[in-house]
Amino acid sequence: MLALVHDPTAPAALRRTELPDPVPAPGEALLAVSAASLNFLDVAYADAMYAVGAVPGVDAAGTVVTAAADGSGPPAGTRVSSFSMGGALATLRAVATDDLAVVPDGVEDAVAAALPAAGVTALRAVRRLGSVLGRRVLVTGAAGGVGRYAVQLAAAAGAHVVAQVGAPARAAGLRELGAADVIVSAVPADLAPVHGVIDNVGGPVLAAAVAVLAEDGVALAVGQASGLPTTIDFEAERRRGGRRAVEVFTVDTGHRGFGADIEDLLALVAAHRLDPQIGWRGSWERTAEAAEALRGRRVPGKAVVEISRAGG
Ligand SMILES: NC(=O)c1ccc[n+]([C@@H]2O[C@H](COP(=O)([O-])OP(=O)(O)OC[C@H]3O[C@@H](n4cnc5c(N)ncnc54)[C@H](OP(=O)(O)O)[C@@H]3O)[C@@H](O)[C@H]2O)c1
Repeated sequence: MLALVHDPTAPAALRRTELPDPVPAPGEALLAVSAASLNFLDVAYADAMYAVGAVPGVDAAGTVVTAAADGSGPPAGTRVSSFSMGGALATLRAVATDDLAVVPDGVEDAVAAALPAAGVTALRAVRRLGSVLGRRVLVTGAAGGVGRYAVQLAAAAGAHVVAQVGAPARAAGLRELGAADVIVSAVPADLAPVHGVIDNVGGPVLAAAVAVLAEDGVALAVGQASGLPTTIDFEAERRRGGRRAVEVFTVDTGHRGFGADIEDLLALVAAHRLDPQIGWRGSWERTAEAAEALRGRRVPGKAVVEISRAGG
């Protein structure tokens, strides 16, 4: 198969090469990949995530070429979307049938590839907050992949969504997605209390978000895109009274397979209730360019690369 592999000496640490085709385990289907999307971890944590020579990428959509030997999952010829750690940026991918979902007619592969990691993270985070109907939810890093899905899903669940972005231009489109308020840069200390926080940024942004949590509110530390650690004054929190929670959120806690949640997201897209927010799209020959744009905070939402065996 043709693949991009992790190579710290190459542009964006990606080198194109031929590799042996993957050999699926009994519970895995083999996919012909047609589209993949990049995630923050692929551009920020690649050295830690991937061995030199490993195939990066967690999100891929394509068509089943060989169904799983154990009889699980869809038959050959079915279009699917998948979420698994590594292996997406290649023409073939072996993936556990638990971690893929069938793509409904009318949803194109590029859209299906945008959803998995960011969408499942946002979906599980919104669900983790419990009922947000009529409640205020703050989403930080709202311009990014997780952020744009979290804004839409929290709004769809009935929340009054406050979206935080780093610069005015990053706010583009967020109100159309359901944000009731948009705040640029710092979270103000006098922001009206929020029931839930979905924080993608960390550092002082998370500290400020915790400081505006309502009594019984929950802040989910989903990501630390700022790279900055967070200092929280828990003594001040104690003096405020009430009981608030700050939770380290991991999408695969109690991993039960991502397929069911990808299926839920695809159904929302098919019903035009979730917009995929593809902010960069192009051939996988331009993956390094897409990675640089994502790293440079120039992608509103997801960066999707289209994968073909020949040429581009
Ligand atoms: N816990 C989990 O299981 C899980 C799962 C998926 C992702 N994550 C994490 O969630 C975060 C968001 O992921 P994503 O896929 O949405 O990433 P993304 O699309 O790159 O978005 C990151 C957002 O963070 C903001 N940001 C603030 N400071 C930044 C900085 N110094 N560098 C880059 N971005 C900065 C950016 O918005 P502005 O430019 O407007 O500031 C950007 O919209 C990442 O930290 C990722 O590692 C965690």
